[in-house]
Amino acid sequence: AGVDDRDRVEYHMYKGVPLPSHLDPKDMDDIQDFTVRDDDVFIITYPKSGTAWLQRIVSLLHFGGDVSKTDRKEQDELVPYFEQKVGDSAAFRKLTEVPSPRMMKSHLHFSHAPVQLTQGKGKVIYVARNPKDLAVSYYHFHFMCSTLKTPTSWEQFLQEFVNGEVSRGAWHDHVLGWWKHQDLPNVLFLRYEDLQKNTRKQVEKVAEFLQWPVTPEVIDKVVEESKFQKMATNPNTNKVSGKEAKAGIFDSSKGTFLRKGVAGDWKSHFNDEQSKWFDTFYQEKLGPTGLHFDFQ
Ligand code: A3P
Repeated sequence: AGVDDRDRVEYHMYKGVPLPSHLDPKDMDDIQDFTVRDDDVFIITYPKSGTAWLQRIVSLLHFGGDVSKTDRKEQDELVPYFEQKVGDSAAFRKLTEVPSPRMMKSHLHFSHAPVQLTQGKGKVIYVARNPKDLAVSYYHFHFMCSTLKTPTSWEQFLQEFVNGEVSRGAWHDHVLGWWKHQDLPNVLFLRYEDLQKNTRKQVEKVAEFLQWPVTPEVIDKVVEESKFQKMATNPNTNKVSGKEAKAGIFDSSKGTFLRKGVAGDWKSHFNDEQSKWFDTFYQEKLGPTGLHFDFQ
């Protein structure tokens, strides 16, 4: 979608949240009834929080760090996009045939997730990222993803992001919805910035949470193979030639999915005024909740 196509991209409202148009509201209710297995693994995020990174970490842990096994398939086939299948009843039914443990990624709000998951069945790894870096990442992603409205400017995008007028709605609603339930025994709440600072420690946390037996050597391998540079040069993880590119959803001439992979890139986009306004807004939303982020 170019800037001229902006108005042709539509979001569907579902329970007050704008969703990409391929997620039809009439199908979304089905998700709530989805039968969860005890050993299901759902990686849940607001977009651009490190979803693909966790997909890589979880699949590597599953295969004991053996890339000859993880790289037999594109990452998004190994760890499919859960709600993307909902409109396609055959594909959704197929999920019931996937052998355990099913590994899936999702961007669902807590209130839209399978009810069983929110009641403690299955496992949720939620990843949150500081909203400044996230907004920058999401801004760039809007140029390359055809189901999102191409921004007319950074200023305009930022305003829409804060207003929750972007696909998946208000970031703070998403993150707080899950944060409030972070003490559920089946929820592990992680931060992108912690993954950056000490990947190994976070990978160990994930393995322990999933109760998958691993050796220190496996952890080493997972840390190594999930590095940004490795993922950026691997056709199974970099999304340059993958399923979404083939379907015309991702346009690699307009951006790269594995863009920078750093913390603190917000400083090259926010001016002082934007930064102060943004901080005030989110301080009000997050301050009382105890959820903090490292902005570097
Ligand atoms: P940037 O746009 O800031 O580079 P998601 O998978 O949720 O869409 O998130 C994408 C963001 O995570 C992108 O951020 C991407 O570069 C970053 N990312 C993906 N894999 C990563 C890795 N192995 N290490 C660090 N960042 C990674």
